[in-house]
Amino acid sequence: MPPERVEITDLIIDYDPETLARKPVRKDDVLAAMAERRMGRRAARIVAGLPDVGGVLDEAHLDALFVRIHAELQRLNEEFRQGERLLMLLEPMLRVSSAQRVVDVGCGLGYVVRWLAAHRQSARGTARAWGDGVELLGCDYNRALVTEAQRLAEVEALECAFRVANAFRLREQPAVFTSSGVIHHFRGDALAAVFRAQAESGAVACIHFDIKPSWVAPMGAYVFHEARMRERVSRHDGVLSAVRAHPAATLLQAARAGAPEMVFAMFDGAVGFLPILRVMHAVVGVRREHAAAFRGALGPLGARLSELS
Ligand SMILES: C[S@@+](CC[C@H](N)C(=O)[O-])C[C@H]1O[C@@H](n2cnc3c(N)ncnc32)[C@H](O)[C@@H]1O
Repeated sequence: MPPERVEITDLIIDYDPETLARKPVRKDDVLAAMAERRMGRRAARIVAGLPDVGGVLDEAHLDALFVRIHAELQRLNEEFRQGERLLMLLEPMLRVSSAQRVVDVGCGLGYVVRWLAAHRQSARGTARAWGDGVELLGCDYNRALVTEAQRLAEVEALECAFRVANAFRLREQPAVFTSSGVIHHFRGDALAAVFRAQAESGAVACIHFDIKPSWVAPMGAYVFHEARMRERVSRHDGVLSAVRAHPAATLLQAARAGAPEMVFAMFDGAVGFLPILRVMHAVVGVRREHAAAFRGALGPLGARLSELS
């Protein structure tokens, strides 16, 4: 069996795990890795067309490409109302826990964090107010994305921050960790390791949204990406993300193995007759001592959450 196919964006960029400095990536190495994974001629053509300097992929070009790709991803998040979706769970979570910050892992251009900040500011002083004093922080390894996220937040005077950092190695705690479209990038043992690292970094709770795998997800992703995305890398990776999305059982098993001190459940985990109506699911975790209060605080929304265990 060849190793599994991965997103092009996972291959064309690399970081030193300690310093997070960018490492040079040779185009030939990427093409060889793709051939080994049998990723096909279309993917190879996309990478072959990327500019290089002496065989090393051109960093400035990649930075600009990643910003464009993530702007397209923002469109998907807007379409799926990812801000509202997250807030439904986040608001009760903050109410019952002692969390002082929300950390978005792999924030990209920070759409969700910026949406939360804008929503919180507009709701202040009304009956919809939430999260007073809670820090909203987006973390990503990618400096180009973080710089753009910060710029966009400044344009709108939003009360949130972005940092080039490993989200699980922050000095500050405790936090609610969130993410969207990130968790399927971790495979095998690395998936449980994420939940371990998160618990060790002082997580009070977590809400990780990702595409829900179903018979319709790859087809839906294909149609959506062809219709709405312009970058060839986005179109390729978008469909592969739907193919690689983790089933609920995989997420829960990894989460429980990695962080036995927390309890976990799936939100919107059921794959109904027409899965196109609920295309995202989330693995939700909370420290044992907050589990009952969180369930209670969810109210009728609790019907969309499986058993916390
Ligand atoms: C698919 S992209 C981001 C998608 C983004 N959430 C969105 O919706 O636009 C995944 C990102 O996760 C980042 N990442 C992965 N693990 C991380 C970690 N432990 N800390 C910070 N960033 C991380 C990568 O640098 C990459 O930019």
